[in-house]
Amino acid sequence: MNRRPDRQGVHPVRLLHLEDSEPDHMLAMAHLRRSGLDLEAHRVDTREQFEAALATSAGTSCPPWDVVLSDYHLPGYTGLMALERLRAIDAVLPFILVSGQIGEDTAVEAMRNGASDYLLKSNLNRLAPAVEQAIRTAGMQRSRVASDAELQASRRRLSELAQHLQTSVEAERHAIAREIHDDVGGSLTALKFDLDWIRRHSPEPGVQQRVLSALESVTHALEASQRIMQNLRPAILEQGLVAALQWMAQRFERRTGVICEFRTSHEKMQLPRGVPLVAYRTAQEALTNASKHARADRVTIDLSLSAGVLSLEVSDNGVGLAAEDLAKAQSFGLRGLHERAGTVGGWIDLSSGAAGTSLILSVPLTDEDGGARPGLADTIDDPDSAGTLSGLEWVPPGTRPSEPAGL
Ligand SMILES: Nc1ncnc2c1ncn2[C@@H]1O[C@H](COP(=O)(O)OP(=O)(O)OP(=O)(O)O)[C@@H](O)[C@H]1O
Ligand SMILES: [Mg+2]
Repeated sequence: MNRRPDRQGVHPVRLLHLEDSEPDHMLAMAHLRRSGLDLEAHRVDTREQFEAALATSAGTSCPPWDVVLSDYHLPGYTGLMALERLRAIDAVLPFILVSGQIGEDTAVEAMRNGASDYLLKSNLNRLAPAVEQAIRTAGMQRSRVASDAELQASRRRLSELAQHLQTSVEAERHAIAREIHDDVGGSLTALKFDLDWIRRHSPEPGVQQRVLSALESVTHALEASQRIMQNLRPAILEQGLVAALQWMAQRFERRTGVICEFRTSHEKMQLPRGVPLVAYRTAQEALTNASKHARADRVTIDLSLSAGVLSLEVSDNGVGLAAEDLAKAQSFGLRGLHERAGTVGGWIDLSSGAAGTSLILSVPLTDEDGGARPGLADTIDDPDSAGTLSGLEWVPPGTRPSEPAGL
């Protein structure tokens, strides 16, 4: 019977034996073959030969050896030194110490340093099962390492996709907001002026009445499109992040009745492109969560720029959240914030307890050498800088050059 340990492929067990005694090597091989193992054995008896044999396995996903057996006492070398060398190259390849005499301390040290097993040459009956077991264990370890690496790569790809989606959604919102502004907003404004002209030039009371009602509807539609645009792409950000958060805090307080305090370390911040919108959306989601879930009566927004790191903290004094809240299947707000922060090299920290919930966005604005991070340095969060959505603010009638003349 040819018993084989669980290994991928069908090749014989490839065994490297560090042993300076040919008779001892032959004896060990005889034990293994007698137990039915199909073997390809290679004996080395010096440090140089051992290291040369190992070197061929370095960096390959499938090492040329399935197991290493090693004597303890060798001329100028020991089994422990061989084990250390092996572990520096391969953390998993089974290593079994087979020695004439081995003290308990040495055996313990070998096991602690990553040996798979140890045996006495005077009792080799356990050698075959030990080799099989060690190879099986190593096989499982290697598949676990491979699955972990695969899982990590898959998580990274998923995160990249989520970040890409966040960026695409913002770009799409930006484009829709621009179209609403240029097409819908422009046409409604022109319609409003035309109606106003008719109102002023028609003496008919019935027509006047109808026109007034139409003007009211158009004004309503204009306000609605402004609101939609503001949600799609916050035009207030063109005045800078500080002004936008100040405005958001006031609006939140007015709308919900929850006291909302905004504090900032700087009145004006020069921020790289993309960062203000990420910070704005983070504060928006944190405030929405505070009003939806926290039952808080006070919320604080802290914005600070220190040591090259932008930090935005939104804290409430509400009921707090539990770990299982974060795993809700249909909740994407906080998960989205993590991915959104990643698009500008930042991250989110969330802490919660009896005193409430605190969400912190941190974004390093400089690289490790203190320079502006590549890709973030070219534009800044300045109302005058390129990259902001100029033209989206609602210009009062009569000030736009393209408006109908004579109104
Ligand atoms: N400030 C908070 N106070 C108390 N609980 C919170 C707070 N923020 C979040 N939670 C809890 O964490 C859960 C997940 O929040 P998350 O923002 O991810 O999703 P959501 O608000 O439920 O839905 P959405 O996808 O619309 O954001 C919430 O359902 C809520 O139970
Ligand atoms: Mg939410």
